[in-house]
Amino acid sequence: MHFTDLVGVCHCGVVSQQESRRRGGELFADGGPDGLIARGFMRGGGVSAEGVRRWPVIGIANTWSELNPCNGGLRELAAHVKRGVVAAGGFPVEFPTISLAEAFVRPSSMYLRNLLAMDTEEMVLASPIDGVVLLGGCDKTLPAQLMGAASAGKPAIALGAGPRPVSTWDGRPMTVEQLWPLIDERRAGRLDDDGWARLESCLSCGVGTCNVMGTAVSMAVVAEVVGMALPGTALVPAGSERRVVAAELTGRRAVELARGGVAPSRVITGASLRNAFRVLCAVGGSTNVLIHLQAIAGRLGLHLDVEELRAISDSTPLLADVKPSGDGLLDELDGDGGVPALMGRLSELADLDTAAGDGRPWREVVVEGGSRRLGTVGEPVGAAGALALLSGSLAPDGAVLKRSAASSHLVRHRGRAVMFDGVADLNARIDDPELVVDESSVLVLRGAGPVGGPGMPEVGHLPIPRKLLERGVTDLVRVSDARMSGTASGTVVLHVAPEAAVGGPLALVRDGDWIELDVEESRIDLLVDPVELAGRVPWPGPVTVARGFERLYREHVMQADQGCDFDFLVVERG
Ligand code: FES
Repeated sequence: MHFTDLVGVCHCGVVSQQESRRRGGELFADGGPDGLIARGFMRGGGVSAEGVRRWPVIGIANTWSELNPCNGGLRELAAHVKRGVVAAGGFPVEFPTISLAEAFVRPSSMYLRNLLAMDTEEMVLASPIDGVVLLGGCDKTLPAQLMGAASAGKPAIALGAGPRPVSTWDGRPMTVEQLWPLIDERRAGRLDDDGWARLESCLSCGVGTCNVMGTAVSMAVVAEVVGMALPGTALVPAGSERRVVAAELTGRRAVELARGGVAPSRVITGASLRNAFRVLCAVGGSTNVLIHLQAIAGRLGLHLDVEELRAISDSTPLLADVKPSGDGLLDELDGDGGVPALMGRLSELADLDTAAGDGRPWREVVVEGGSRRLGTVGEPVGAAGALALLSGSLAPDGAVLKRSAASSHLVRHRGRAVMFDGVADLNARIDDPELVVDESSVLVLRGAGPVGGPGMPEVGHLPIPRKLLERGVTDLVRVSDARMSGTASGTVVLHVAPEAAVGGPLALVRDGDWIELDVEESRIDLLVDPVELAGRVPWPGPVTVARGFERLYREHVMQADQGCDFDFLVVERG
């Protein structure tokens, strides 16, 4: 409660309310009634008289939740962040926000990403804090926090949960991307009940994010590249003493940022976002991150041009031999020097004058690093173009394919469409023995985009029909307006925009239509005569929803190529 609210003198207009919301920790130094109330309530919570007078006040936005085991280590890390804040002279105050777990949230965690971003923004704005440490981890938490912090405009720095330990499956290292083929083995009848039960017990050994270059770790890497996390922290394992040290140092850095008034808009620039995409290509990272990068850019009035991104992808070889695009483990890449070594290997391609999270330009941060899992531009791990940005008559506003995870014999392919209208239809028919499908077919899912999903569920990695699995088929061309887990692989065209639910060409496709994918030419085309298409009745899309967050979401979410943010949260470019 604010004294000014009590006496009703703060209702003189919108401007004064905005200024009030942007107030920081000086509230606790206020000699009048507001300061007295603030200090008094805080002391009632167990803070000393000296403690409430420390400055700056650093919020710790924590997405720890028992409903999100990936973020299960964040409560402990928050204690070490506080240690760093206090050591640097600040006053730490931890607060919760909502948390989004990939494994549990339905219809998809993406559906609630913008809600978490709004939660973060509003709490940072409304609270008497001068800066904030963002504790995230599981896929959507970190991007949402970065979006919210970018909009709030107070100094901010992030720390991820870190990748969880690698477990063991039948005596072999088990990382999370192995789940998908094992599920296919089960569907094909080749994994018995005993194996299924053992899989449950070793799928996730310990707290922390998925232990390959999936969406969560890709986002942690991106946060580091754009200067919103301390250099060298993205790949540090969850539960390690190095992550504890990283937490303390992050707390100290938050105090420096708050004292300097360094807002995210001074750290994240067009150049740093382009660096982030370049590193994403160099590690064969998650396609989801492309959406998050556009969303973060939009919060700052920036924009990532698709032609520029395509040029970056085409000129950036795969440098990191890590799963799922390669064979290595994250701690091996960490041992090679992590992101500072990656930035060093990319020094001729990236802009090293951008800021790292400790305030230095990347030029002064890069290290040479090892070579166990890290190649060079001259001797890369894989070809350039790990993330292929497509367009064509089926996706006029774009689509994406993770080339580093695709089958080489399918990246140029023409096949007949096998249509599925939404996830329920897919689940009901994919294993139907009567389904007309063969190795050359193109599986097409519509109604799973931002509006249609809603929230673009990670179902773009459509299952291989059981009758093909039983014949040993492991990959097909798949096309959808959905997303795909960063841990999955296959020849999968994702994020088709505009999606079917808003009238994109996907809405006009019929069973048996020819579809052509040509990754070299960056194209995905529907080979149907335009005159015939014009006469077709489009798929009708989802039923309109009358209330609640779903209504807000469906009415305001933008398409994948624009970051799937709400249209009213984007800042005008420039
Ligand atoms: Fe949480 Fe992968 S499911 S990080």
